[in-house]
Amino acid sequence: MTHPKILAFAGSARKDSFNAKLVRIAASGARAAGTEVTILDLREFPLPLFDQDLEAENGTPENATKLKRAFMEHDGLLLACPEYNSSITPLLKNTIDWVSRAEEGESPLAAYRGKVAALMAASPGALGGLRGLVHVRSILSSIGVIVLPDQIAVPRAFEAFDSDGRMTDEKRQASVERLGRNVADMLVKLVD
Ligand SMILES: Cc1cc2nc3c(=O)[nH]c(=O)nc-3n(C[C@H](O)[C@H](O)[C@H](O)COP(=O)(O)O)c2cc1C
Repeated sequence: MTHPKILAFAGSARKDSFNAKLVRIAASGARAAGTEVTILDLREFPLPLFDQDLEAENGTPENATKLKRAFMEHDGLLLACPEYNSSITPLLKNTIDWVSRAEEGESPLAAYRGKVAALMAASPGALGGLRGLVHVRSILSSIGVIVLPDQIAVPRAFEAFDSDGRMTDEKRQASVERLGRNVADMLVKLVD
């Protein structure tokens, strides 16, 4: 892992997603630390709801293969996870499930094992999506991802970003950038 790379995306395909804005800030922090970051928009990778019969009949959808390849090509993850009904969004869970499927000759969960991830969330509500992050952390930890202890939940997201996509609170802007940098720094430590 001489030049660690980070994959960053939000678990929302909404056009004006708060979480997409948030993950871009964390990505800028990781880039400032010298790490290459790829930002994905899951809207560009539509997938059917995972169904084992459909998989058996039609094989793996092209977008699932593309997403898995993206995971395999990166060492770290920056994930901004909206909270739906106190939990993970169906979009994020569906993505995790499709990417978890092993092709012939691949080791199980090859796309996840040993990756270093940082989690964040933004929500219009008072808890900022904190309850959903508990579930995302549990899922990712169970499939071999090293999820960093630090995370950020941004409440009242409708007033948390300015028109340039920066956080209106400069301290919070710095915290989110730091979260991105933490993943970059951890990956460099793993190389040493
Ligand atoms: C089905 C559904 C359930 C939701 N449940 C929660 C919730 O439990 N907690 C919360 O803070 N926000 C909840 N929300 C509001 C989302 O946080 C809000 O739509 C947010 O903008 C989604 O993230 P995004 O802006 O990145 O798309 C829910 C929204 C939807 C559509």
